[in-house]
Amino acid sequence: MTFLTRSTLFLFITLCIISGLASSDSELTWDEAYDKAFSLVNQMSLEQKVGLTTGVGWEKTLCVGNTYASENPDFPSLCLQDSPMGIRFGNNVTAGVSGITAAASFDKTAIRQRGEYMGKEFRAKGVHYQLGPSIDIMRSPQSGRAWEGFGEDPWLSGVAGRETILGIQSQGVAATAKHYIGNNQETNRTTSSSNIDKRTLHELYLWPYARAVEADLAAVMCGYNLADGEYACENSYILNTVLKGELGFRGVIMSDWGATHSTAKAANAGLDMTMPGDILMGDGLTFFGSNLTKAVNDGEVSEDRVTDMALRIAASYYKMKQDEDFPKTTINTFTRSAAPEILVQENHSELVREMGAAAVVLLRNEDEILPLSTHTPKKISLIGSNAGPIPQGLNGCPDQSCGKGHLAVGWGSGTADFPYLVTPFDGITARAGENIEIVHNFNDYDLEEVQSLAYEADVAIVFVMADAGEEYIIVEGNNDRKNLSLWNNGDNLIEAVAEVSENVIVVINSVGPVLMPWIDNENIKAIVWPGLAGQESGNSLADVLFGDVNPSGRLPYTIAKKQDDYPAHISSEAQIEYTEKLLLGYKYFDAKGISPLFEFGFGLSYTQFKYDRLKTVVNGKKDNTRVTTSISITNVGEIDGAEIPQAYLSFPQYTNEPPKLLRGFEKVYLQAGEKKTVDFVFTKNDLSFWDEESEEWKLAKGEFTVYIGASSRDIRGSSSFTI
Ligand SMILES: *[C@@H]1O[C@H](CO)[C@@H](O)[C@H](O)[C@H]1NC(C)=O
Ligand SMILES: *[C@@H]1O[C@H](CO)[C@@H](O)[C@H](O)[C@H]1NC(C)=O
Ligand SMILES: *[C@@H]1O[C@H](CO)[C@@H](O)[C@H](O)[C@H]1NC(C)=O
Ligand SMILES: *[C@@H]1O[C@H](CO)[C@@H](O)[C@H](O)[C@H]1NC(C)=O
Ligand SMILES: *[C@@H]1O[C@H](CO)[C@@H](O)[C@H](O)[C@H]1NC(C)=O
Repeated sequence: MTFLTRSTLFLFITLCIISGLASSDSELTWDEAYDKAFSLVNQMSLEQKVGLTTGVGWEKTLCVGNTYASENPDFPSLCLQDSPMGIRFGNNVTAGVSGITAAASFDKTAIRQRGEYMGKEFRAKGVHYQLGPSIDIMRSPQSGRAWEGFGEDPWLSGVAGRETILGIQSQGVAATAKHYIGNNQETNRTTSSSNIDKRTLHELYLWPYARAVEADLAAVMCGYNLADGEYACENSYILNTVLKGELGFRGVIMSDWGATHSTAKAANAGLDMTMPGDILMGDGLTFFGSNLTKAVNDGEVSEDRVTDMALRIAASYYKMKQDEDFPKTTINTFTRSAAPEILVQENHSELVREMGAAAVVLLRNEDEILPLSTHTPKKISLIGSNAGPIPQGLNGCPDQSCGKGHLAVGWGSGTADFPYLVTPFDGITARAGENIEIVHNFNDYDLEEVQSLAYEADVAIVFVMADAGEEYIIVEGNNDRKNLSLWNNGDNLIEAVAEVSENVIVVINSVGPVLMPWIDNENIKAIVWPGLAGQESGNSLADVLFGDVNPSGRLPYTIAKKQDDYPAHISSEAQIEYTEKLLLGYKYFDAKGISPLFEFGFGLSYTQFKYDRLKTVVNGKKDNTRVTTSISITNVGEIDGAEIPQAYLSFPQYTNEPPKLLRGFEKVYLQAGEKKTVDFVFTKNDLSFWDEESEEWKLAKGEFTVYIGASSRDIRGSSSFTI
């Protein structure tokens, strides 16, 4: 440096700044990341490599999980933190919409932006791995954690997972897709085996992971459950053969917290990192650490395998450019009060509000009772505890397990603390302004009082909910849902109000489908389904109720008329056979001719859309086949708004696919009177089935039909094509 002239020094600094700027734009490729990882790991002793793969232990570090650091060569302790919807155990963070509600937006741009703001917050707090998204399929509607993921359909989950991962990783944070695989219920989650035939595994449960790997996913978390008789975290078929082999996954496989059950078996099956390190959470023992070193010395695990584990971990770090200006970790999971006040929320609340509104599903709207601005009622009554604050206080229960007050997230490790919570009461009161009188009663059991309040008002809005969450917390007897009914006297409350008011709007915040025994009551003019909308919940809802946002959300699952109509339920057997195979969700209802109450993909708008001029063109051959279906959509109503056209394919008969499969959706914004043409492109992935005989994906040959519709049952046009 001493020999540099001033001008070359200036040039040198300028180049550094330019290259710094250019490189912080995007991730490294896997090849580039592995080059850097090789130079690091080549200098490491066996013990140092093992350190990278081993968690320091539960409640011993700043994050829910931290790896051991290395000195000479230097490599930091990596910080891993929940959750799929925001920073768990973090102060001054954003708590936005849950996964299931992100999915209900059917809005790829909004889902990407959600990933981006989360990634930005995780990085700013010095977290290397976000433990999300959850891309577990909602197999049973009772499943306690299904709300963390993206619903019943693999294609939708694949798109939502991909957009979330691209968003998170664009900020230099490793995304962790979970919980691989067949972790579809909480009941007996650590003792039961999910037995899934290979075709169903590939076409349904693996599909979103395949799309995630294509999006350069950095990490996968294996689940607590067994798959086909072996613990997921030591199952060589699902880890080595399928994930690392077939899908070509180059990132890190980490255990769920306490889901490692062996040393050599797990390492040889493909597990790369044990979290949080302990054998049983908090016992200070570990299957990796000195046990893994010993296993190498005893010849039970090859040193090459341990080198591969360390390389994967180092490569993910370099790929995310975490070696460049990575912020110091400033969360303090187990001593929250010791965390410095680092504000990372910026204007993310605006995105949360927009996404919450974009995800509201309008299930019914008779006599144009909505939007409220059309008739401008003078007096509105807000009824039910779900309209108001959480009685135990904001963040007043461990991991959001209150089960009372406004529901804006489920419970468990998949949560974050609310910085504040805009309840429906807050949001509607603020939006209604001076000219509309708002009266309320948050007591779900005081039916007479509630009736007199509803009777006096022009419109009565009843707020009800159904909650669920993770295994280690039981709320009113639930982790998986005991039933599909509303909580807190919800059905009786609705019926009581509908006895005295002819203008009833029911708002249901729920983790998943609910039964609606009052559905035929004609006084219930509207049913609104905002999901789990996070900190801005009441504002998002008011935006839709008053017509500032025209609803375009769609159901990411089927709402059945009765629980028995669903193909899969929570099982208390040790061996859980996935006997419904490919017939999950709408595919089952289609195949068996069962009418749902509200079908997958359903959602109303304040305007109407006309679909016409459907056209399909086949280009290319064999694996390069590319089918394009176009359709034009016109907003024929009076109000601007977005439509979500969906594409479903029926496959040639010999493939034995369900009657139709989602293979495309778009969100199209149209001003009143406006018309746009929408293209759906289907490529090899979309047109293939998993062949059981050859155990590989095969392009289906023969006649397909493409259906374009506003839901899985509201089909507006179809055409056939042959491959
Ligand atoms: C940051 O979080 C702490 C702990 O929840 C809270 O006391 C403080 O008011 C927050 N700061 C801001 C600016 O919101
Ligand atoms: C090594 O693993 C065994 C179980 O296989 C366990 O009993 C033992 O405590 C572990 N050792 C350490 C140091 O954690
Ligand atoms: C949030 O702020 C950024 C600039 O910091 C701006 O580009 C973006 O448009 C804002 N987002 C919203 C939703 O207002
Ligand atoms: C369903 O479960 C909820 C929550 O535990 C409970 O409040 C409700 O009474 C149950 N409903 C029925 C019909 O069993
Ligand atoms: C599953 O859980 C149920 C209820 O908690 C229990 O009775 C049953 O023994 C468990 N089965 C297994 C295989 O662990």
